[in-house]
Amino acid sequence: MSHAHPVDVLADARIDTRFGDLRIRRLAGHIGGEVLGLALGADLSTDTFAALQSALLAHKVLFFRGQAHLDDESHQAFGARFGRTVAHPTVPAPNGTKLFELDASKGGGRADSWHTDVTFVDAFPKISILRGVTIPAYGGDTVWANTAKAYERLPDALKRLAEQLWAVHSNDYDYGADRTDAATDDRLRHHKEVFVSAVYEAEHPLVHVHPETGERALLLGHFLKKFVGLSSTESARLFELFQSRVIRLENTVRWSWQQDDVAIWDNRATQHYAINDYGDQPRVVRRVTVHGETAVAVDGQRSRTRRRPEASNDAQLDALITRTA
Ligand SMILES: [Fe+2]
Repeated sequence: MSHAHPVDVLADARIDTRFGDLRIRRLAGHIGGEVLGLALGADLSTDTFAALQSALLAHKVLFFRGQAHLDDESHQAFGARFGRTVAHPTVPAPNGTKLFELDASKGGGRADSWHTDVTFVDAFPKISILRGVTIPAYGGDTVWANTAKAYERLPDALKRLAEQLWAVHSNDYDYGADRTDAATDDRLRHHKEVFVSAVYEAEHPLVHVHPETGERALLLGHFLKKFVGLSSTESARLFELFQSRVIRLENTVRWSWQQDDVAIWDNRATQHYAINDYGDQPRVVRRVTVHGETAVAVDGQRSRTRRRPEASNDAQLDALITRTA
């Protein structure tokens, strides 16, 4: 990256210069920054990569324009700098890769409800790296929300309530429940056949302690099925109460994709929503996902598995997924 910065950039209050050589343009008040002039790849220097990791923890989601040099292979190689990359537990990866592809022309390819990735397993991914492969001419923005800020801004009484609650997350959640568009039969069928080909359930604390920042964050999203020990009706009311705090517009940042953009988010401190307003235009994005640890409650208890298919370790699952790809 260049070390020469125009004076107007240095003087710009939006530019965050706390992270080494990185120049990060703040995009909103509480989440999200665009890293300027950096070409992502497995060959980033130790210093630059360390700065990138720190910046990610602070901004929660980072955006990068113009990463046309990345292909599936180098995208995965870059992802491996963050840790072990993992395939999606149920959705087959393209071409024997560990990539997760969202293709709007296929049944399950529109992530248009608020979620944290893969929270239906106990050790859900810590980081997701999404690359814009085919981007519509208009529409198709993605919005991220800061779940640590949502916790921080809760009144004390609600913090205490939240810290005592645990919830069951499952990939067999009510997919059609909150959809205002016509969730077509095709999409529902695809969801059942592919996404829920094997049912997973995990129990997570509603409030978890981030393993790197120590921040407390709310763990919710559309995979949440019910709260442990509460009825479905009570669960729905409490979900609404806390989820509405997460997705307050003050907690969010919206990204308008261009071809070859990359977004990296801390999946432990965010939820996201892919806006489904681009009609029949093609849209393909590919994601590299990095293995994460089980979540830790404020009292030190860890997330646990309630249910998973028999081929249950990552190696077995990878083999299963590769065979069916
Ligand atoms: Fe997602």
